Amino acid sequence: MSEIGASAAEALAMVQHEPPRQGASMLGVAFEARDVVRVGFVGVGGRGLSQLNEMLAVEGARVTAVCDVVPGQIRKAVERIEKAGQPRPFQSTDWHDICRRDDVDIVYICTPWDHHVDPAVYAMECGKHAAIDVPAATTLADCWRLVDTSERTRRHCIQLENCCYDVDEMLVLNLVRTGQLGRITHGEAAYIHDLRSTLLADHAEGLWRREPHTTRNGNLYPTHGLGPVAWYMDIHRGDRFTRLVSMSSLQASLEAYRDATVPADSPKRAETYVCGDMNSSLIQTAAGRTVLLQHDVVTPRPYSRINLVQGTRGAFCSYPARLFLDGQGHAWQAVTPELRAAHEHPLWKQQGDLARKLGGHGGMDFIMNYRLIQLYRRGLPPDIDVYDAAAWSAPGPLSEISVAWGDIPVPFPDFTRGAWRAAGPVRAGVD
Ligand SMILES: NC(=O)c1ccc[n+]([C@@H]2O[C@H](COP(=O)([O-])OP(=O)(O)OC[C@H]3O[C@@H](n4cnc5c(N)ncnc54)[C@H](O)[C@@H]3O)[C@@H](O)[C@H]2O)c1
Repeated sequence: MSEIGASAAEALAMVQHEPPRQGASMLGVAFEARDVVRVGFVGVGGRGLSQLNEMLAVEGARVTAVCDVVPGQIRKAVERIEKAGQPRPFQSTDWHDICRRDDVDIVYICTPWDHHVDPAVYAMECGKHAAIDVPAATTLADCWRLVDTSERTRRHCIQLENCCYDVDEMLVLNLVRTGQLGRITHGEAAYIHDLRSTLLADHAEGLWRREPHTTRNGNLYPTHGLGPVAWYMDIHRGDRFTRLVSMSSLQASLEAYRDATVPADSPKRAETYVCGDMNSSLIQTAAGRTVLLQHDVVTPRPYSRINLVQGTRGAFCSYPARLFLDGQGHAWQAVTPELRAAHEHPLWKQQGDLARKLGGHGGMDFIMNYRLIQLYRRGLPPDIDVYDAAAWSAPGPLSEISVAWGDIPVPFPDFTRGAWRAAGPVRAGVD
């Protein structure tokens, strides 16, 4: 049954239901150190092939297995792996085979949204860590399934949230960690990206990413904006999201674009889109902070994740990057190269040149993969764990429930079951 439920009361009861714990917390649990980390890819379409390029450049990473349901995609991946000088990987069109292999440490999942959770759960049950592209899950039941499986199997489930590692987001994390913005009170995050032609294409994401616009009304893609803001606020490391309220605008832009660009006899012309163009959610945290979270992938307007954070001593906002420190008057100051150099995150200082050269999303894709593999090699906990994967994905179903029942406030599940109070700060800010 849909998690929207038959009534608001039923939906709220479902949100509040906390399944029994199946294992101890995974917060702060370290990887088992190993010199070479062996990665098995599941899904090598647009995103999988691009992530493969970055992973092949990471010191200490080996890609030992590849899966896709389309053999031609597997062939492209194998060519790249061999070109990078690594041995020919194991190949299969069935992800179960990748999860069962004993030469894979991380199952790295870049499939469409509805194909994330089953391979991740099976990978963990087979003793592998799972890393999933965004969003990890699209239902609360699946968020809990990931948490419970990770705790039961003692394997990590990592959200591959590359935007946490972008140059501006890491710079802000550095500013927050060094106390320059003071005590953080509010953040604004978004995924505003005109994807109309992608959604209506007859290949790649056009084959699966438009369908949710016909069935779901809410924030379909929450993690890119929310992940970095969660880091600034130490979510699950001293604070947590406690409730969400959401509102959607009318739906208009995808339909208008479809009608202007798709032939009259195409089956797409019979589709009814129900997802409002702009969805805005407000999230409150246990410490009383607030987050504005927006989603709009159909309006003709420039790309933005907003990336605003404000505190008792100042504020930062991206698009374009600007900083305001208390006492500097009334205007933002542009983030100049000098300012950037003064506050650049150590990861970008060390790896920025290679990251920019490889170029995946301006370098953040490499930084994310580099960091994941080096933490594994050093036997440290991952920066992003199953609780982050669940809580950053949960605004999807939570916003749908809120919108469906008249923009009601919805309690935010505590996927850590209380462990958020004790954990130390986000590692990427401290080592
Ligand atoms: N983090 C980012 O910046 C970013 C960017 C783009 C996409 N993504 C995410 O990456 C994921 C994949 O998106 P994409 O753009 O590569 O889509 P895509 O359609 O280009 O590729 C998906 C691939 O998965 C394969 N596939 C489908 N079902 C499968 C299964 N059961 N087993 C094995 N392979 C299967 C398809 O054949 C295809 O090759 C999505 O979750 C998307 O949201 C993230």
